[in-house]
Amino acid sequence: MPLDIVVLQDVRKRFGDTEVLKGIDLVCRKGETTCIVGGSGAGKTTLLRLIVGLERATSGHIFVDGEDIVPMRERDLNRVRQKFGMVYQYAALLDSISVLDNVAFPLVEHTKLSPAERRARVVEKLRALGLDESVLEKFPAQLSGGMRKRVGLARALMLDPPIVIYDEPTSGLDPLTSRAVDELIDETRRGFGVTSLVITHDIASCFRIAEQAVLLNAGQIVARGRPEELAHGDNAVAREFIEKSLVDVDAITRQRRA
Ligand SMILES: Nc1ncnc2c1ncn2[C@@H]1O[C@H](COP(=O)(O)OP(=O)(O)OP(=O)(O)O)[C@@H](O)[C@H]1O
Ligand SMILES: [Mg+2]
Repeated sequence: MPLDIVVLQDVRKRFGDTEVLKGIDLVCRKGETTCIVGGSGAGKTTLLRLIVGLERATSGHIFVDGEDIVPMRERDLNRVRQKFGMVYQYAALLDSISVLDNVAFPLVEHTKLSPAERRARVVEKLRALGLDESVLEKFPAQLSGGMRKRVGLARALMLDPPIVIYDEPTSGLDPLTSRAVDELIDETRRGFGVTSLVITHDIASCFRIAEQAVLLNAGQIVARGRPEELAHGDNAVAREFIEKSLVDVDAITRQRRA
């Protein structure tokens, strides 16, 4: 497996007459967390959809684990999509089925395991994420926001994907739960050795978890680097974006190093 597990070269995406992504170059290294930050409409979700193969780039190259997915046939794309675990903004659990059935869903789709084996795998994954068997028969609506995030993450990790993608994992959560989700993302990276790609509006979260921060503006990457480099480097756009968030990023950096 190459060290540069996701590599984008001059990626462009056009919808009709509008170019939404205007030549993106990006490298995500294996086992690291990359945060993509930027304002509304910058193209963050579009970029994510291109990387996981839900949408096709208009031009450029997207290498996933060494394979360019841009010219790929649908059949091969399906194989590559399984390298990604997706954690959606609102956990996206099915409310009418139990936690067990939600988390076991990828196993039903992609394996021939028996129900007992599936249950054992689900319990193992939930345990690793700090949830015990008592949640199995519950319905998503009976869980707290933080627990739902864990369940959504357990489902995303069920097939042990090497890359986990999070779209706005902390949006709509209170600060304490946000912090717990950040810890979960970091523990997942360390415990399961996954490469993480996180889309977020949340500067505090970016400073807590990212090895690499990427600032997207109007379809272009305008800054990239370690978060603290962006806060104190010579890129004025990045400094201003971070300052405007009013987050005490230096305190977060100190805590992280401690
Ligand atoms: N399927 C589509 N067809 C046409 N335009 C689209 C489509 N998807 C996205 N766009 C446009 O692309 C631009 C970027 O959208 P995108 O959803 O990627 O932004 P974003 O950075 O994720 O924003 P937000 O922070 O609000 O989620 C927007 O102007 C949007 O209207
Ligand atoms: Mg979006």
